[in-house]
Amino acid sequence: MTPNGFIVPKSHSNKEFNALIDTFYSLFDTKELQNVIKYWQEPLGICFKSNDNDRSDLEMKKSGRLYHQTSNFHIESWAGYSNFGINTLLPLFGDTKKNYTEFFEPKENYNDFEVNSVTEKNLNQIKSKNYNEKPANPAFKNEYISGNLICWDNCLLHRTKIEDKKSYRIFIVNQFIPYLSRKESKANIISKYRKIGRLTHNILSSKKHILKFSKINDRRFKSTLGGKRDAYSYKVMRLK
Ligand SMILES: [Fe+2]
Repeated sequence: MTPNGFIVPKSHSNKEFNALIDTFYSLFDTKELQNVIKYWQEPLGICFKSNDNDRSDLEMKKSGRLYHQTSNFHIESWAGYSNFGINTLLPLFGDTKKNYTEFFEPKENYNDFEVNSVTEKNLNQIKSKNYNEKPANPAFKNEYISGNLICWDNCLLHRTKIEDKKSYRIFIVNQFIPYLSRKESKANIISKYRKIGRLTHNILSSKKHILKFSKINDRRFKSTLGGKRDAYSYKVMRLK
């Protein structure tokens, strides 16, 4: 498990993880979506959130690994993901009333370029200039429940919110990148590390491929951005 509570797939869970991939991505094999989703950022995240995943600011400063902890205000593109990405999150178990994602909507004068060029120094300024101060959650508080798939655009500011320190929540999360127009492709910002992690929806939903996860790095976890090694490693295998 990573400091953010992600349970990463390893060789011993290959079979179960591939079954999960089949089930999750088939949710998106609908007529409406078949020409919408181009890539997913692999691997699919199984995530456990409790207060233990929340570290103090001091601890964060000491460890570069915790820089991206999800209880800080963030958008996924600040961690290198595409600014055109769409997040999908499926709560499965736990207290989603006291342990949930808090969302903040962009203001009318939202500037995508500015938000995507944020630095540690101007973070607070950019945040208050571009996003509402009040969370948008009251508008859909009855929708954030186990079994409901929640999707949001990568321009939506959000954070993990834990109101009850004893609460927990387990969910599945991943983001897709839609097919982009030529104009959108030009404005697409994605880090080279996240680019490598993309797999097409066609490969993931075809029954002809499986992901084979390796054993390596089991004891040598490094965060996916701050560290020199990933928390996992996999190959796409074509079945005969
Ligand atoms: Fe996030």
